[in-house]
Amino acid sequence: MSVLFKNIKSLIGVRSAESKVLKGDDLKNLSALNDAWLYGEDGIIREFGEMKDFSSQFVPDNRDNTELLEVDCAGKLLLPCFCDSHTHLVFADWRQEEFVFKIQGMSYEEIASRGGGILNSAKKLNETNEEILLEQALQRIEEIKNHGTGAVEIKSGYGLTYEGELKMLRVIKKLKTLSPIPVKATFLGAHAIPPEFKEHRDDYIKLLIEKLLPQIAEEKLADYCDVFCDKGFLSPEETDLILEAGWKYGLKPKIHANQLSISGGVQAAVRNNALSADHLENIGDEEIDCLKNSNTISTLLPSAAFFLQMNYPPARKMIEEGLPVSLATDYNPGSSPSGRMSFVISLACIQMKMTPEEAINAATFNGAAAMELQNVLGSITVGKKASLILTKSINSIANIPYSFGDDMIEKVFV
Ligand code: NIG
Ligand code: FE
Repeated sequence: MSVLFKNIKSLIGVRSAESKVLKGDDLKNLSALNDAWLYGEDGIIREFGEMKDFSSQFVPDNRDNTELLEVDCAGKLLLPCFCDSHTHLVFADWRQEEFVFKIQGMSYEEIASRGGGILNSAKKLNETNEEILLEQALQRIEEIKNHGTGAVEIKSGYGLTYEGELKMLRVIKKLKTLSPIPVKATFLGAHAIPPEFKEHRDDYIKLLIEKLLPQIAEEKLADYCDVFCDKGFLSPEETDLILEAGWKYGLKPKIHANQLSISGGVQAAVRNNALSADHLENIGDEEIDCLKNSNTISTLLPSAAFFLQMNYPPARKMIEEGLPVSLATDYNPGSSPSGRMSFVISLACIQMKMTPEEAINAATFNGAAAMELQNVLGSITVGKKASLILTKSINSIANIPYSFGDDMIEKVFV
């Protein structure tokens, strides 16, 4: 199938094929083409330009498939789909009862220490079969796609047993073929120490390293390896052991760092050459300096900070210090029961003072980079996937974060 978008008020996020992850000031630049057109064929962007230069010769007569969809985009913007590089969207059930405990004053850590939180999700996941998990996850992917997400990373970490972790990762592997959008898989066996290993944590780490990782490699179940390095969860030393072992099987690290405390997670991420360090609610100058001397992308998850009422990461400072910042939803039943990237963009602007341009770049191109998909997605570039968001009639991209709660999307094309 082919698609021709005409009279686009503004075609947003135009970039050359050579673009690299956007750091610091680069994030400000969200280049656009006004009064534009774009032609896509077989899901790929073939050509685009300004309406004044449009000629029908751009739409070949000898198209493989004759069906041509023409979309009049007058008054509307067209932008690349969001790339959500951090989710936990395979889970067995929601946790609305904990939400109520939180309202009544209990902290995230208190809930966790009483067997709630991640352990609650793990218990439910181990009782749920693969088919149900798959069906629920597919529905969630369909839902986020309709809200503009064009690629998603999904973590394990609600199994916390040999069988449970493999079950989750096998579900994610199936999603890779069934999902309408690209999926990346991350092994997060080190999401928490299961209670039965409380007195001998080393044995759980051994299970992850010596039993799970080889099996995951054998079945090609993961692209990345993650650890929740934080107070009450995994220590930096334990994190090193797991990430080093992951590297041996070709799994790059993407880590949960400094969500609850200054945990040493940032240093562990950088030491282990992580693709991304995610969360970063609790960071100071030392952590920012450490990130500056690395290739690690800083992935911020403001909807988790919003939901847990925690401090937001210092995005402004991070950008001013030249860091590559990306944005993701952290979609999960405990800390971010929403996979809406547009709400994340609103929070980035309202709470973290990112400009709409910075936030959109962080949610598209840098999100793609945090999944190593920047050569296929994340910008308007000939040869990339024609995964696109057509907005409602709006004046500028600032309307997306401004109209929080309504993503201003008319239609999503993937
Ligand atoms: O990214 N911080 C650790 N993991 C998730 C929360 C998972 C949960 O509460 O179920 C997060 O916020
Ligand atoms: Fe997370």
